[in-house]
Amino acid sequence: MINPNKPKIWYGGDYNPEQWEKAVWDEDLRMFKLAGIDLTTLNVFGWAKNQPDEDTYDFGWLDEMMDKLHAKGIGVCLATSTAAYPAWMARKYPDVLQVDFEGKKRKFGGRHNFCPNSPTYRKYAVRMAEKLADRYKDHPALLTWHINNEYGGAGTCYCDNCETAFRKWLKERYGTLDAVNHAWNTAFWSHIFYDWEDIVAPSGISEEWAGPNGRMGTYFEGISLDYMRFYSDSLLQCFKLETEAIKKHTPDIPVTTNLMGAFKKLDYHQWAKHMDVVSWDNYPGPGASYSFTAMMHDLMRGLKEGQPFMLMEQTPSQVNYHPANSLKSPGVMRLLSYQAVARGADTILFFQMRRSVGACEKFHGAVIGHAGHEHTRVFRECAELGTEVGKLGDALLDTRFKAKVAILFDWNNWWAVEMTSGPTFSLKYVDEVYKYYDALYRAGIAVDMISVEADLSEYNLVIAPVMYMVKQGWAAKLERYVKAGGSVITTYFSGIVNETDLVIPGGYPGELRKLFGVWTEEIDALPADRFNRIILQGSELGGLQPEYKCGMLCDLIHPKGAEVKAVYGDHFYRGMPALTVNQFGAGEAWYLATSPEAAFLQDWLPQICTSYGIDPIVSAAPEGVETTIRSKGGQDYLFVLNHNGSAVTVDLGGRSGINLLTGEPVEGSPIRLTEYDVQIIKLNH
Ligand code: GLA
Ligand code: ZN
Repeated sequence: MINPNKPKIWYGGDYNPEQWEKAVWDEDLRMFKLAGIDLTTLNVFGWAKNQPDEDTYDFGWLDEMMDKLHAKGIGVCLATSTAAYPAWMARKYPDVLQVDFEGKKRKFGGRHNFCPNSPTYRKYAVRMAEKLADRYKDHPALLTWHINNEYGGAGTCYCDNCETAFRKWLKERYGTLDAVNHAWNTAFWSHIFYDWEDIVAPSGISEEWAGPNGRMGTYFEGISLDYMRFYSDSLLQCFKLETEAIKKHTPDIPVTTNLMGAFKKLDYHQWAKHMDVVSWDNYPGPGASYSFTAMMHDLMRGLKEGQPFMLMEQTPSQVNYHPANSLKSPGVMRLLSYQAVARGADTILFFQMRRSVGACEKFHGAVIGHAGHEHTRVFRECAELGTEVGKLGDALLDTRFKAKVAILFDWNNWWAVEMTSGPTFSLKYVDEVYKYYDALYRAGIAVDMISVEADLSEYNLVIAPVMYMVKQGWAAKLERYVKAGGSVITTYFSGIVNETDLVIPGGYPGELRKLFGVWTEEIDALPADRFNRIILQGSELGGLQPEYKCGMLCDLIHPKGAEVKAVYGDHFYRGMPALTVNQFGAGEAWYLATSPEAAFLQDWLPQICTSYGIDPIVSAAPEGVETTIRSKGGQDYLFVLNHNGSAVTVDLGGRSGINLLTGEPVEGSPIRLTEYDVQIIKLNH
């Protein structure tokens, strides 16, 4: 449990009373009670209020608010407020200001704007965290710590302090300059470094530029990759320093920071190791499909190998930063809240409790709107959900999501795939991974999103799309897994480089050649308007269409032990393998040599899952119906979510149980869900 002092799904979110006169506070508390709110995240942007100058700290408002909340039975997720420093700090100590990609020193403004290697920033941030921990360590409202906010949310710094820290980081990683020169292949373009001081931050005035298709362009992938690792580590170091300061006073109160799903800049697999509980902010973009949101929840759940996470933020209605900020239709906020719970969240929290009157978030959704009273649609929906969630008690807490299929996701691979020059600029790692996820989602098959460090033994199938970078030990680990009876699918553009983006010589897919039993001789890249075809061979792949479209990248492979299951239909490599399978020990290793149209994965993956004993949670559920199971102590809870704006009937395959939200029995016959409705069924054994 995140904190056993409040054994229920926490309900509430970011609350910024420091923006309001005290007269408003009691109104807020009255309405919180009406809405079933029992947790507020306080002090996310309170630094300027709490520390008006270098030596003065004043927590008066926070003392009062913590007491008031506690008196009403509302717990606190206490933020350390270090995501936006006070203006005096920038005036007196300009080292807190970032130097941007183009080498411009920034002035005060915005947020998430600190240089992570600024000695001033670190000193005052850690001091603030420690003061808060010391002050509130015994406060009964305190349930969890929220360090900083959305680390990495703005800018990357390339200042002199960062450059110096980068050299130090490199010394620690590589030991010698020779090793660095080797790792980055600096004999290319006369880049040999003779002195550590020769190494500069690879910004827009050095190696990099803003490339096409949202990519970063670089002349030297090695240094650019390491700067990304270093920068993720620099911010992580800030998080760790605050955590240490807090743990001195409250060793048992869980610490988190709010992550952002597939956020490119930070290697969250490294971060999660230092977090007691993962939390994340779910803001599906315009047109984002619910299966993409599902994948984001699964990715966040996978960061701590399935441990329940916190939904730290979501908007009750709309956001403010898209070209058009649509409202969530009635029922959708509730649906998305339960989607998070269905996929492993043990909290439902919003940004924000009360809408600001000024600055850029004044039109961002909030539980309490500008009208200031409870007679609004949004408030009513929040209050109804608050009441409903209150009734669930601790039933779902600590339940675990079970999956037999894992999809590999790796941040370093993502960075490398999208900064490499050639063979194509079209490849977007997250989009490619999502194709596999979405095909399984549509089939109702549960998936875990895992890292290379995860234990594979519980999975029947591991899918590792575009495994361009093969990290040390990963190929051997996969071999052990398949030898023991697991099966694996990988794709085109895999097994190409090591962790510093040096090609593994001897033929692609490098270290994976033995496992997959293929040799890739060449890689063809197709422009967006050109395609090839996957032509299926033999009868074992029955139930599929005879051929499918494919494109973007086509590996030209030779089977070296693998059996050919499909071939290309066009171009000079017509007849060469497009899909192979290699029997390896007790398992199978599939190599899909090209990026197929979605229909291929939608037809093929469910079939292959069946052959490995992996079943959908509910067979043949109508489109737009999402199902998951969370379990604890042998008790299964089935979630059925209707993402459709119309009613559906779902056949649960004769299952029966109790509808936890209504208390009504479910007796084995098909259930009916109205538009955007949700059922959570405590299943009978
Ligand atoms: C992020 C931040 C919040 C707020 C919301 C608005 O998640 O953490 O402070 O700005 O975005 O959507
Ligand atoms: Zn810096």
